[in-house]
Amino acid sequence: MSSIPIALRLTDVHAGYGPIRALHGVSFEVREGGIVVLLGANGAGKSTTLRVISGLLAPTEGTVEYLGEDVKGREAGWLVRRGLIHVPEGRRIFADFTVEENLKIGGYTAKRAAFGGAMEEVFEYFPLLRERRKQAAGTLSGGEQQMLAIGRGLMADPKVLLLDEPSLGLAPLIVSDIYRIIGAINKERRVTVLIVEQNAAVALNVADFAYVLETGRVAVQGRPENIRGNEDIRRSYLGY
Ligand SMILES: Nc1ncnc2c1ncn2[C@@H]1O[C@H](COP(=O)(O)OP(=O)(O)OP(=O)(O)O)[C@@H](O)[C@H]1O
Ligand SMILES: [Mg+2]
Repeated sequence: MSSIPIALRLTDVHAGYGPIRALHGVSFEVREGGIVVLLGANGAGKSTTLRVISGLLAPTEGTVEYLGEDVKGREAGWLVRRGLIHVPEGRRIFADFTVEENLKIGGYTAKRAAFGGAMEEVFEYFPLLRERRKQAAGTLSGGEQQMLAIGRGLMADPKVLLLDEPSLGLAPLIVSDIYRIIGAINKERRVTVLIVEQNAAVALNVADFAYVLETGRVAVQGRPENIRGNEDIRRSYLGY
């Protein structure tokens, strides 16, 4: 087990926004090929953790290692070109651009030459997007926009995908559809996935390991079945 290489490792990461301290020593790891979920309530520091990993926010203390390398001081673009792809909270698609144009933007940042092949692959995972390729992204439903955001991430040929609340604001059926596809991307393309979620129940179904953040610290960690099966943890941290 322990011979599986580590895709991401955070060690004692502190970070914040000016005087506001958001992370107070976060440590965890994600093995290559795995699906790890980072749970926690509003304001726990989940999105901040992803911003630190993807180079958008510099930690004030601690280290982030990506594929075995300390990435201190590396810019977001450098990490993207090496396959570390962040699908942000709220999706951040370009509303006035078509589905196809949004996907091309995803491929461009990673300098992926074969747009056509990559886009075909995205359409195989998300057939709905193929039908809507000429439609302005802002007119897509919430679920379709989330699919587009993940599809755009796929265009960049990810080794590691960081997904910030893919279930946010979506109906349960769409959520399970999106999670099924995330699972397929992980298995078929060997993409390592780190998911941030408030919807613990659904995320624990696909993850092979889970961490729970509470006000900027890892409060609980374990395998999904142990977390699901522990009523105290569920009540105290997950609210269900
Ligand atoms: N740009 C910012 N400027 C100042 N404070 C911020 C900023 N972004 C986040 N924070 C603060 O940092 C803390 C962690 O926020 P973060 O967005 O990481 O939480 P989260 O776990 O992603 O929450 P949510 O589930 O609501 O998305 C919060 O106290 C928040 O108010
Ligand atoms: Mg967040």
